[in-house]
Amino acid sequence: MDSITPITTPSSSAALAARYGANARPPAGPWNETIASMLTHRSVRGYLSTTLPEGTLESLIAAAQSAATSSNIQAWSVVHVADPASRKILAEIAGNQKHIEQCPLYLVWIADLARNRRICAAEGVEPLASPWTETFMVSVIDAALAAQNAVAAAESLGLSTVYIGAMRNDPERVAQLLGLPPEAFPVFGLCVGYAEPKAAGEVKPRLPQRVVVHRELYSTSGENEQRAIYDATMAEFSRRHELQTATWTQRLLNRFGNMKAMNGRERIKARLNAMGFPLK
Ligand SMILES: Cc1cc2nc3c(=O)[nH]c(=O)nc-3n(C[C@H](O)[C@H](O)[C@H](O)COP(=O)(O)O)c2cc1C
Repeated sequence: MDSITPITTPSSSAALAARYGANARPPAGPWNETIASMLTHRSVRGYLSTTLPEGTLESLIAAAQSAATSSNIQAWSVVHVADPASRKILAEIAGNQKHIEQCPLYLVWIADLARNRRICAAEGVEPLASPWTETFMVSVIDAALAAQNAVAAAESLGLSTVYIGAMRNDPERVAQLLGLPPEAFPVFGLCVGYAEPKAAGEVKPRLPQRVVVHRELYSTSGENEQRAIYDATMAEFSRRHELQTATWTQRLLNRFGNMKAMNGRERIKARLNAMGFPLK
């Protein structure tokens, strides 16, 4: 049987240093195992074939359903895709991300307004709130909060995950493959499993807190200096991982200054319209 990477719980200062780099580590505050588990998050793109303990899916979904949800409408669904043929197609849609075929558990998270429409139809009420952009946003937010609860739960169990936003490269094909009705949109996929030791990776540093936290008023003061600190930290991270692009700024520019990086997703509004979301 394949070996399983053990969970380690680093001290708060070591965990904060890993998350921010030594030069931007915030002071340690209250700490517990939940926060420690969150701070060791990393996306994993290689999985062991080890099957998950019985009931893992149900535990992850219970965690997902425990997330807050707008007005308790619970406007999301999730599709568990086990069929290797379907996984192969989903991996192709995602630009051949092999971990989609390899991971023991693959979930596609759906912004689901179709269920509300069915309920309204059954009860003879016109779903006047459905076609609005706000309602679509609610369903996407609900799906994302639920998925992230599942991620936190999985990681607390020593499992690893990676989101697959690349489902949105061709959401209509994903919808067709999974039998989604109109008004059901695949927001992203999620691979879950035990990390291959080689793929377990390292915590990826984040922007210094001063860049993302504003006190009373939104302020850009010090942003460039803090970004330079982060770029140095990320350049070091990239060197350790032999990644080509050195700094975070350069990666951002590659992403935001280049339409190719959108992978055709700039057409998402038209695709949403075709999938039953008028986005009024
Ligand atoms: C909504 C969403 C979609 C993502 N899509 C992909 C994806 O298609 N493929 C991939 O390898 N990683 C994907 N990621 C993972 C990000 O690249 C990763 O979270 C980011 O680089 C930070 O690294 P970390 O998660 O290891 O801290 C996605 C993350 C999010 C939140």
